[in-house]
Amino acid sequence: MKTLILAGGSGTRLFPLSREHYPKQFIPLIDDESLFQKTVKRSLLFSSPQEIAIVTNTDHRFLVRDQLAAIGCDCQVLVEPVGKNTLPAIYYGVHEVTREDGPDTIAVLPSDHLVTADEKFQEAFRRAGQLAKDYLVVFGVRPTSPHTGYGYIRPGEPLADGLLVDAFVEKPDLATAEKYVANGYLWNSGMFCFDADLFLAECERCAPEVARAFERPVDEAYGVAPALSIDYGIMEKTRRAAVVPLECDWNDVGNFDALYAALPKNESGNAVRGEHIGIDSSDNLILSDRLVATVGVHDLAIVETKDAILIANRDEAQRVGEIAKALREKG
Ligand code: GDD
Ligand code: MG
Repeated sequence: MKTLILAGGSGTRLFPLSREHYPKQFIPLIDDESLFQKTVKRSLLFSSPQEIAIVTNTDHRFLVRDQLAAIGCDCQVLVEPVGKNTLPAIYYGVHEVTREDGPDTIAVLPSDHLVTADEKFQEAFRRAGQLAKDYLVVFGVRPTSPHTGYGYIRPGEPLADGLLVDAFVEKPDLATAEKYVANGYLWNSGMFCFDADLFLAECERCAPEVARAFERPVDEAYGVAPALSIDYGIMEKTRRAAVVPLECDWNDVGNFDALYAALPKNESGNAVRGEHIGIDSSDNLILSDRLVATVGVHDLAIVETKDAILIANRDEAQRVGEIAKALREKG
């Protein structure tokens, strides 16, 4: 199986750790390895280094190469002239990795998630591989809240290795998401698996403007391709989707609350990287190279980097994304 790793996005909700020039996937968030490096290692479970291609943009190509070298993985790096969201990135990747060897089964992985690569994960990909000839396969996660930043999947009839997808709705509003959670929909994990031929045919059908763009040389293709995600561009429209439930731990580390959930906690429920003295302080996320002392504070995210400090309520961690906008307006 070939693997495409999407590494061109920029997370804005982990400010000040992530910045435009240093997005979330490249930060060693959990331990010494970045989420990107962990993703590459995970994909070695079903692809050899020669079968893995990274799709990234010009700004991050050196970072990608450095991080690959650090884990001794010599994979292909495909550089997009400009980011046009995930559908052009996947189309370009599929085109390139099948150019020499012909059609193949392809796994598509985001580079900025924390996923436990246990037997359940491998079993999900084994099942997806069985379905990939006939279906665009998504991996469904059981929802824990009506999160509006995810795609929602309504599972249908059972298949030998998964279920048909009856409906796929990308990023619904809160009221709709609440209804979906109550009605047994699954979250889309953001990983995909399909045979190249089927993907190209469904792209032709559902998003012909992307297929047309890539009839041109890559630089020109990116000039004319619409910015479109695979979720809106194909998954909401195709009738050829199947879902494999994903039972392993999955965390998209979308904000500091999710990062807090992923990190080990001490007896006061504080997740600390660095040194912390806490007087009556519990359930905080504290990341700093300096000694941090807190008195009587709870459920906060306190994050210090060389040039910025963030203090936020953990339950409003999603709003940290507003800082990037405020910074841009400030100039
Ligand atoms: N190469 C490249 N180029 N990669 C990109 C681009 C691009 O233009 N845009 C995004 N990516 C990468 C990101 O780095 C990330 O690894 C992945 O593609 C997904 O993009 P996001 O921007 O993070 O998507 P999302 O989180 O809003 O939504 C997707 O993921 C959710 C799960 O986390 C969708 O698939 C949702 O349906 C899904 O629930
Ligand atoms: Mg994401």
